[in-house]
This record gives sequence, structure tokens and C-alpha cells, in this order.
Amino acid sequence: MILQDTHDVKTFCFQTTDNSWFRYLPGQFITIELEIEGKPVLRTYTLSSSPSRPLSISITVKATEGGFVSNWLHQNLKEGDQIKAYGPAGIFTLHDHMAEKYLFISGGAGITPTLSMTRWLFDYGLHTDVHFIHCARTPSDIIARRELESMSARLNDIKVAFACEKPDPYGAWTGYTGRVNQLMLELISPDYQEREIFCCGPAPFMQAVRDILNAAGFDMDRYHEESFDSPIKEESDRPDHDDVIIDAEAASRVSFTRSKKETPCQESDTILTAAKKTGLHIPSACQFGVCGTCKVKKVSGDIHMVHNGGITQDQIDDGYILACCSNPLGEVVIDF
Ligand code: FES
Repeated sequence: MILQDTHDVKTFCFQTTDNSWFRYLPGQFITIELEIEGKPVLRTYTLSSSPSRPLSISITVKATEGGFVSNWLHQNLKEGDQIKAYGPAGIFTLHDHMAEKYLFISGGAGITPTLSMTRWLFDYGLHTDVHFIHCARTPSDIIARRELESMSARLNDIKVAFACEKPDPYGAWTGYTGRVNQLMLELISPDYQEREIFCCGPAPFMQAVRDILNAAGFDMDRYHEESFDSPIKEESDRPDHDDVIIDAEAASRVSFTRSKKETPCQESDTILTAAKKTGLHIPSACQFGVCGTCKVKKVSGDIHMVHNGGITQDQIDDGYILACCSNPLGEVVIDF
């Protein structure tokens, strides 16, 4: 099913070919694989659907100028088409940060994870106190407006507010106008200091929210944001990792058991580039350790992995690694 949400946003709903159910956490994303102009193209999209309705999943996609894949989806994907998807993955989910009160703040198409979480909380009827703020360019750009208003009308625990940069030319607008700011935040969510905050939107939008919260002395351990940009903006943002130093000259060797291929390489190569050398295609998308698409199982050998949240500690303990951000140290064998 394909739904037209606004003039430039569509929701694509998918079912499995055998009608099996989907299992994921609200706020997680999948990576879809498309064939465009004869080449495989992978992109990650947050699921806008809720796992409380497991028969289908949906992604909500905005067509943007220069948005190669999003525009292709809008123009080419038809009902009945089949696509390949990997995942789910991602740690931007309230399941990892259970709280009694939440504040969800989103900008534009960044509404998808908080929409999924709100749908989930609504369906479960947990009476969790949610303040939901969504910022859009104009009222007609608000995604899922009527559904959010309906959830808010039916459940006192969910309070929804919209802020638009400007009103529609011929429409009445009684909501907030302008960009999100401290005063707006205080009016919509007077007790935001007591809330677990989830924020998603364009990078400048999230920066503005962070600036407001930092200026107000908010405990940023209770602030979570989602971005598919490279999460390392400054060296000081880089998380602490162990002190393995890769020797660019040191020789390594990577073997892929199921494919019966192997290649010599350097420690400075990644498992992903080693696979490419042998002609193997390990699916990948972000290539900086955040989306989890390139997850493979290591059979033996040592690697050095610096990821950005695309893999959980449980998966690492089970022997999984992310091929895009793992360097082989000596002989490494991969189950692929
Ligand atoms: S491609 Fe995204 S984590 Fe490796």
C-alpha cells in the first residue's frame, strides 16, 4: 500500500511474501536494497509504523530536490513491487530508556521514529506521559497531523503541538509559528526538565534543540537524537575506544567460508573492502558503523572494530562484527 501523506511525502507499507509478522522496536530503522539503473543501491529509513501492528511495516519518505533514492521511490515504486530489506537496527528507541515522561521533538521527515514510538505507546495504552512537538515548514507539510491529533484527543497522556515556520497562504493557522525556541518549549512542555527527550530532524534543527537544552542546563544524558549523517562531527565527539593502533603496512588475510574466497590485504583495509577485492558483495549502506547493514559473523581471528551504534554488545558477544568498520588483524575468517 502507498499512502500520500502530504504533497511531497509518501508512506510505503510492506508485507512479507509469506505473511509472517515483523518484529522490531519502535524507532528502529531498516536498510532497503533497490536496483536503480542496473546497480544495487542501499538506503536506510526509519520505520514509521509501530511493532504493535506487526502484519506490515512502513517507511515515510519525503521527495527532495536531489534526493536520488527518495525521488526514485516516489516515482517508481508501485503497489505489488517486491524489494529486499535488511534489519531492523538502531538504538534510538525508548525501550533502551524507559521513563514515565517523554518529550518527542521532530523536524520535517524526522518525525518517523517519534511517530512510531507514539503509535506504540498509544496502542499499548501504558498511560505514559508524552509531549510531542513537531516542527514543519507550513501546516500542510505536517505529516500524520490528523492521526496525532486523534491520538491526543483520545488519550489525555499524549499532548501534541505543532510549530510551523509560516502559515499556508490561504489557510487559518492557530498553532505555534516560527522555529522551535526556549519560550515555545516552556509553553508546550513546562516540565521538560523532568522528561526523557528524543529528537530527530535535520542537523541544524537538532543543533538548535541541543543549544536550547544546554542553555537551560538540561541533563543531556537524558537527551537522545537520531541522525544518518556521520555522527562524528568533531574530534571531541569521538567516543572512547580501545587503544589498538592500526599498522597500515601490516599484512592480513581475510577468508570467506561460505563463498570459499580469500584475499591478502592490509590491516588498514576493512572486512568490507577485503570482500570487494574478492568480488563479494556484503550489503552495506552508511559505511560508518551506524546502520548495521553490513553485519557478518566472524568465525576466527582478531579484528579492530570502531562502530557508531550499529551493533549491540549482545551481537558482538555472539561473534558478529560490522564489516564496514572492522580492520582485520592477521588471519581472519568470516562466515559469508
Ligand atoms: S554499512 Fe552501515 S554499519 Fe556498516
